[in-house]
Amino acid sequence: MARIYNFCAGPAVLPLEALQEAQADLVDYKGSGMSVMEMSHRGKEYDAIHNEAIANCKELLGLGDDYALLFLQGGASMQFAMIPMNFLGKSQSADYINAGSWGAKAIKEAGLIGNVNVAADCQKDIPTRMPELSECNWTDGAVYAHITTNETISGAQMKEIPKVEAPLIADMSSDILSCPRDYTQFAMFYAGAQKNLGPSGLALVAIKKEFAARGNVGLPSMLRYQSHMEENSLLNTPPCFGIYMLCLTTRLLKQKGLEKVYAENREKAALVYNTLDASQFYRGTAKRDYRSDMNITFRLPSVELETLFIKQASEAGMKQLKGHRSFGGIRASIYNAFPIAGVQCLVDFMRDFEQRNG
Ligand SMILES: Cc1ncc(COP(=O)(O)O)c(C=O)c1O
Repeated sequence: MARIYNFCAGPAVLPLEALQEAQADLVDYKGSGMSVMEMSHRGKEYDAIHNEAIANCKELLGLGDDYALLFLQGGASMQFAMIPMNFLGKSQSADYINAGSWGAKAIKEAGLIGNVNVAADCQKDIPTRMPELSECNWTDGAVYAHITTNETISGAQMKEIPKVEAPLIADMSSDILSCPRDYTQFAMFYAGAQKNLGPSGLALVAIKKEFAARGNVGLPSMLRYQSHMEENSLLNTPPCFGIYMLCLTTRLLKQKGLEKVYAENREKAALVYNTLDASQFYRGTAKRDYRSDMNITFRLPSVELETLFIKQASEAGMKQLKGHRSFGGIRASIYNAFPIAGVQCLVDFMRDFEQRNG
C-alpha cells in the first residue's frame, strides 16, 4: 500500500485507522451479513451507528441537552441557504462578516432571502486576515450574526470569537474539532464533513433547540431545522455511510482528546510557519495574528517557480499543494488526520527547493 501525503483542502485525508476499519467491515458489518451501505436506516445496526455518531460529536463539542446535533445533506453550502430561510424574515436583518470567499458565498445566498448587513469586510485584503473585533459594526436587533471561523481558501483563521447580542452562527467547515472551543457560545454552527470529519455531502449542524424552534414554520420539512430535529436527522434516508465514517473519526478523536489534537495541529502548523519566517524566498499570505492552523497559504517569487514547486513536490509524493484557482500560490491543508511526518517531509522539501532555486 502506498499512501501519498495528501494536502487537499477537501475532500481531505481521513485517519488511516478509520479507513481500514471501514474496509474490514465493508461487505459484512460486524457479522450482520450486510454493508452499512445496504442496511435499513431504521434497523438496529444503523441505529447504533447513528446515535453513537451524535453522542461522540456532542461529547467532543461539550454540548448538552439544550442542543440538537443534526446530520444534513447538501454540504455546508446548503446551510448558506437554510439559515436565512429559517431565520431571516421580511423586514428583519442579519449581520455577516466577510473575510473571504466562503463568507462572501454565505452573504450572497442570504441576500436572496432577506436583508443582509455586512458588519465587516476584509475579503480582499492582502495579507489575508480576519476583521479586528473593533471594526465590526453589528446591527441592533439583528436576527443572527454569521461568521466563518476559518477561511479555507485564503488561510485566515479567527482566533477570537466575537461577542455579539444577536444569536451567533458559525461556518466551521474547515476547523471544526481541530481545537477546544466554548462551542456553547453559538446558537448554531455547522461544517461540511469533508475536512475534519468524514466524506463530503454530509454536514454536521449543531443548533440550540430553542433557536431552531424560532425557525420559519412555512418551509417544506426538508428545509426546516425543527423538522430534522424532531426526527433525529431521520426525516428521510440519511447519508448513512458518511455518518458511519464520521462515527469512526469522532471515536478516534475522543480517544485522543481535543487538547492533544489541538497541540498536534499547532505543532504541525508551526513547522511550516517557522520555515516561512526563516526564509526570504517564501512569503506567507496570511497576516501573522490570523494564520490558519488548517490551511497554510504562501507564495514563491514567481508563478513559474510555484508551478515547478508543485510539480516536484508531487513527484516526491506530496500532492494537492496548488492554491485555490481563485487565489493562486501554494496551499498546504493539514487537518487533524494529516500526519506530522508529512509536514516534516514538506518543510524538508521547502528548504531543499529554496537552496536549489533561491
Ligand atoms: C469554510 C467553508 N464553508 C463552506 C464550504 C462549502 O462546503 P460544501 O462543499 O460541503 O458545500 C467549504 C468548502 O470547502 C468551506 O471550506
